[in-house]
Amino acid sequence: MARALPRSKPTPRARGLARGIDPAKATPSEELAQDVPLRGEGEHTTHLSVIDRTRTAVSLTYTLESPYGSRVVVPGAGFLLNDEMNDFNWLPGVTTRSGQVGTEPNQVAPGKRMLSSQAPTVVARDGKPVLVTGSPGGRTIINTVLCVVVNVVDFDMDVRAAVDAPRLDHEWFPDRVRVEAGLAERHPEALQKLRELGHAIDTRARQGDAHSIGVNPSTGTFVGAADRRVRGKAAGY
Ligand code: DON
Repeated sequence: MARALPRSKPTPRARGLARGIDPAKATPSEELAQDVPLRGEGEHTTHLSVIDRTRTAVSLTYTLESPYGSRVVVPGAGFLLNDEMNDFNWLPGVTTRSGQVGTEPNQVAPGKRMLSSQAPTVVARDGKPVLVTGSPGGRTIINTVLCVVVNVVDFDMDVRAAVDAPRLDHEWFPDRVRVEAGLAERHPEALQKLRELGHAIDTRARQGDAHSIGVNPSTGTFVGAADRRVRGKAAGY
């Protein structure tokens, strides 16, 4: 016959913890984290732009894909390796109107590097940087970066306005232009023109996260423009 184990007396701490348990209702974990700062870790690729007083500029787009990437840390270097394998074509030879691409150049093969849309960019004039930019966003990256560059270089916007301006994107397949909702609100005439040209148009809430730095070529001063679409801040030291 099984013998009941002798019961030890609960400690005051255990009693206190037990009192905090509501047998009728689950306790939200966050209620137990009052003095613990909770971080919201983004799941997407990260872009940062940096420049120092010597005008050495770095544009860095950093991607792991799934959390912790391949979960391998480079010994002695301390950074994680990504898992970009799903950037190879998924099904060789299968290209669909909905956006699956199966063309030859991006098929998996030994020793090959998969396609990437990442486009960290430094725009220079007379050998000196005037714009540092880039973005996460998978296939939309190239169009996000293009929007910022065109806004600065061709439309003469300052970097703040260039980052804030609504963006658009086209990825071959699906054969649709996707525009940020702000574009539809602020420039309906532009959408009308695109429709007249025969484009099908979808809207999306936002595209990219293009933290950028503009350099005034006459004064040499820098202006950091954090993208207000997601989060992040400009910092100067
Ligand atoms: O290299 C690429 O194009 C993709 N692996 C980047 C992924 C990405 O930007 C996801 N972030 N939103």
